[in-house]
Amino acid sequence: MAGSRIFARPPLSRIPMDRYVVIGNPVAHSLSPAIHARFAAQLGDRIEYSALLAPLDDFRGTATAFFESGGLGANVTLPFKVEAFRLAAAASARAELAGAANFLARRDGRIEADNTDGAGLVIDLTANLGFALRGARILVLGAGGAARGVLGPLLGEAPSVVVIANRTPDRARELAARFANRGPVEACALGAIPARDYDLVLNATSTSTRGETLEVPDAVFREGALAYDMAYGHAAEAFLARARARSAHACDGLGMLVEQAAESYLLWRGRRPATAEVLAALRPGLA
Ligand code: ATR
Repeated sequence: MAGSRIFARPPLSRIPMDRYVVIGNPVAHSLSPAIHARFAAQLGDRIEYSALLAPLDDFRGTATAFFESGGLGANVTLPFKVEAFRLAAAASARAELAGAANFLARRDGRIEADNTDGAGLVIDLTANLGFALRGARILVLGAGGAARGVLGPLLGEAPSVVVIANRTPDRARELAARFANRGPVEACALGAIPARDYDLVLNATSTSTRGETLEVPDAVFREGALAYDMAYGHAAEAFLARARARSAHACDGLGMLVEQAAESYLLWRGRRPATAEVLAALRPGLA
């Protein structure tokens, strides 16, 4: 037949899949591959998302090799979030503010950085937990990378105050100065936390993931307040148990993890997966 052609379509299994990774060290424990596999199944996408271990002294080489081999996107976890930000040729405003990136994408031949951690936390707090950030009194424990990644989005929700308390008070002061033009933010030492009725106490230190005790007075937890640990599962339990003992609500960071992943998926692929069913499916595995 004139003008008609039959194209042989390769079998689906031979069409290369869009490839994504989470890069960290350690990274084998990461739930991100399981989360993204569920997102892809839900949306009918064929993607490959795996865990990629980078040597502590060669994040750059590992990430660059992944993108040069055709990889489309990477989530980045500890301890490489600052290096990820530095590696990128361009960064979103929120990644600039955090000075750290948990998200990389190859676009138009260059690597771009973003930070979806803060958005993930805010969505978990507001949409999943029904917590009103507007007007809230927030105590952030810790002034490292985890705290820096979420302060901008938290302040963007117009809380009445954010107090940053840190073991090394100078780091808290530096962070408060960095975010001073974003809203009411104060700094103090862990041992000198101003007595206020905090609505939200956020553990952004690395104590939970390292199994260390956080020396903070039990009085920071009050009845009906929300204590939130950015770590999840068993690691968060010691901190959350103390909050529960004071009749505060207690929540770990699994929801934040799933929401930051959904934000990443949206940025890479243009569609945001539904998160509730993924959270519900993962939760029993952490018990
Ligand atoms: P991350 O990227 O996880 O935030 P980080 O930048 O090393 O890691 O920051 C770790 C945070 O946890 C810091 O606020 C740190 O306090 P210092 O600035 O004083 O180091 C805090 N932290 C770590 N171990 C702690 C402990 N045992 N008690 C209290 N705070 C601790």
